[in-house]
Amino acid sequence: MCSIIGYEGRGEAAPLLVKGLQRMEYRGYDSAGVAILSQREISVRKGVGKVSEVNALVHMDELRGEVGIGHTRWATHGGVTEANAHPHLSNSGQIALVHNGIVTNYIELREELRSKGFSFNSQTDTEVIVNLLQLNFEETRDVKTAMMRTVATLKGNYSFAAVFPDGTLAAARFHEPLIVGISRDGYLVASDILGFVEQTDKVIYLDNREIITMKDGGQVICDFDGKPVRHELIRVSNEIADADKGEYVHYTLKEIFEQPASILRTAEKIAPEVARAAEMIESAKNLYITGSGSSFHAALVGKYLLSKFGGLNIEAIMASEAEFSPHHLDSESVMIAISQSGETADVLEAANWAKEKGARIISIVNKTSSSLAQMSSLTIGLGCGPEIGVAATKSFTSQLVVLYTIAGLLSGGTLSPRFDNLSRQMSEVLDNQTKIKALAEKLTGLSDIYILGMGANYSIASEAALKIKELAYVHAEALPGGELKHGPLALLDSNSYVVFLNPSDSTYSNVMTSAHEVKARGAKIIGISNRPSEIYDYWINLPSTEAEMFPLVEMIPMQLLAYYLAIHRNANPDYPRNLAKSVTVK
Ligand code: F6R
Repeated sequence: MCSIIGYEGRGEAAPLLVKGLQRMEYRGYDSAGVAILSQREISVRKGVGKVSEVNALVHMDELRGEVGIGHTRWATHGGVTEANAHPHLSNSGQIALVHNGIVTNYIELREELRSKGFSFNSQTDTEVIVNLLQLNFEETRDVKTAMMRTVATLKGNYSFAAVFPDGTLAAARFHEPLIVGISRDGYLVASDILGFVEQTDKVIYLDNREIITMKDGGQVICDFDGKPVRHELIRVSNEIADADKGEYVHYTLKEIFEQPASILRTAEKIAPEVARAAEMIESAKNLYITGSGSSFHAALVGKYLLSKFGGLNIEAIMASEAEFSPHHLDSESVMIAISQSGETADVLEAANWAKEKGARIISIVNKTSSSLAQMSSLTIGLGCGPEIGVAATKSFTSQLVVLYTIAGLLSGGTLSPRFDNLSRQMSEVLDNQTKIKALAEKLTGLSDIYILGMGANYSIASEAALKIKELAYVHAEALPGGELKHGPLALLDSNSYVVFLNPSDSTYSNVMTSAHEVKARGAKIIGISNRPSEIYDYWINLPSTEAEMFPLVEMIPMQLLAYYLAIHRNANPDYPRNLAKSVTVK
């Protein structure tokens, strides 16, 4: 939800931190700040807005000093104000801290600290951590002990980094990501490798319940009980290769255009894991599939494919609803958990809940070092490269590639996806984007739009509606074609626009019936189809593909429509308001 970063070394800390924060801004971007230590004095510069806006005002990158921390925020406790922005200083002003996650017992801790004479300047849960560090450091004069004592009192999930007056940078991880980078001139810690991608590709993935202290070119890692821990150094060049926007104006656009290549990368690399997954799935007595947001829409397509082609009885559960779902979970059950980040709290909770009942977890993740991957019996990595745009695009189509491949293996030959053909067909749609751009311009003033589909195309309609909502801030609603007459028709009149996902598959004639019902109410019809029809007021031509494969192709024009609608409505598609890429809170 937030991003944290820290540096200790021989170089100037502030410029590195500010650059790193910009790269991690996808995790939260309502305020930003840095704290730098120089000659035992800590200076803090922070403010409300994106990193570039705050930097233009307070020049964070001009602070001098070789130890520092930085933060971008996605508000949870307390409004978006300068006082609530991180870093936070302890009462003595001698310790500064940045934090990602939530301390659930902060109210009790704050009261305890107040009774010892501490005061608080913000509404955040973070300020209790930094003041606990001060209290424990004053009592022990030892950074490691102060860190251990502090984490022993915290409840919740968190990672944090702190600068101490003796020049130590210390950090702790508990169920929120924290990665250590080792560069030529120092150490970095960050919530994502992207935070230090320009400095190094040598990393250590800290585990939960670990503390690292870095000082004078050395580092020590221990667990929360103080036991020393050794970690392998990992090189991550593949994971970070695509982290630049390149020639594109936005990451979102770049990631949409990457899909003809990224689906092939996924298809090529998953073979051994999907074969094992197919075996586990086939032998499961009870089968569930879960995810949140876009990943849940992929789960819905997965349910359709595995029941239709695998002949399996499978239930799709929205991750946030898992605890309220009736279930039959035991050691013969399998849960397929889908998550780009592998850090989504709702998904982790659903998977934990299933695991506690004895179920095995198959995870489909883009981040193979994530918490979800770590708790799974089998992990299938998407390998589609880092997705920086907050809205899921290429990760969604790669998730579908995995699910199509598993369904193909279980289909006894009735489904054999040709991803090379699909890749070409996606490129065709992308090459013809002018028409979609023009359509988006026409729709700029719209306040509502409906997207209709049936069968697996309805799941794509749901994903398309989510894209339009989050990127363009237009109310968008997915409609299953057959349900129109059961209520939604009442909404339609000559001012309405309805997008029809209408490929020539088994849904075609039923969808056409719905199109006539809509036309009769005077609404405008946008047809996304490989077949032209006079009923369409606007037609976006889809390349013809095998009937079952249309969901993958028709997603592309819908992503482009959402993107260009955002552009025409002056919204920044990379950073939708109120959202963050990795939703690590409940
Ligand atoms: C929508 C979007 C979100 C995520 C959801 C789950 O574009 O990005 O709906 O899909 O927050 O995230 P992951 O897949 O990381 O679990």
